[in-house]
Amino acid sequence: MEKLDRQHWFARWEAMQNCYVPHRLYRFDLMLKLADLSREGEAHILDLGCGPGALSFCALRHYPKARIVAADFDPVMLAIGRGVAETDRVQFVRVDLRQAGWWEPYEETFDLIVSSTMLHWLSEGNIKRLYAHIYRALKPGGQFFNSDHMASNDPAIQAHYRKLLHVNQQSAFHVVGADDWESFWRELEQAAGEKLDRSEEELWEGTDNGLPRQFHVETLRASGFEQVAFHWQDMGEAVIGARKPYR
Ligand SMILES: C[S@@+](CC[C@H](N)C(=O)[O-])C[C@H]1O[C@@H](n2cnc3c(N)ncnc32)[C@H](O)[C@@H]1O
Repeated sequence: MEKLDRQHWFARWEAMQNCYVPHRLYRFDLMLKLADLSREGEAHILDLGCGPGALSFCALRHYPKARIVAADFDPVMLAIGRGVAETDRVQFVRVDLRQAGWWEPYEETFDLIVSSTMLHWLSEGNIKRLYAHIYRALKPGGQFFNSDHMASNDPAIQAHYRKLLHVNQQSAFHVVGADDWESFWRELEQAAGEKLDRSEEELWEGTDNGLPRQFHVETLRASGFEQVAFHWQDMGEAVIGARKPYR
């Protein structure tokens, strides 16, 4: 790991993710604008499954006085993030977000919780539990925004979306010349000159399409959230938001 040029691998990660995830940076920007926090206040923000931190860094550009907890379980992602962070306002922490104990000290702590392309890694049961943790960790009136794969409620329509997404991703990779997931990790490991233990197999329990949109709406409402809404959608991709009620 010591050998790795963190800036270089951060840029390669970003190029790859921007090919896989349509309108990724637009969606980051949208979530942070919708949050509509004060630029002057010291907002407390949590980024779930932060990877090397692009969404956290974007949050800091929107809210320069914010303090951000960037949480992920992958030590390589966290090392790249720490290597490129130019501020101590983003604190990278290693955690498996399925562990209830990690959430305990965070009751009513955050003004905003965001996530990008992470929740589809989790099983249905763990997403339900995560929504309950998020609810508890938000201050009254606090907001949650998630940008992720969220499937059509109709499996036949979702199958069509999936095919089209694949075509769009292939043309993005062709134009940009970015790594795909396998080549990114293979080449990063070669550059590191050592076998990297990243726990990916331990983490992945999800579905490539994500769960149906209706599941997210119903589960967020059942967890106590209000103002549950899709703010952006393109085939099986979405940005969903929700607010914890003021007392
Ligand atoms: C596709 S990456 C997205 C990273 C980042 N949000 C981005 O948009 O660049 C998904 C991330 O979720 C993390 N992740 C998945 N399951 C997790 C869990 N249970 N606890 C913590 N992090 C998890 C993975 O380690 C990975 O870094």
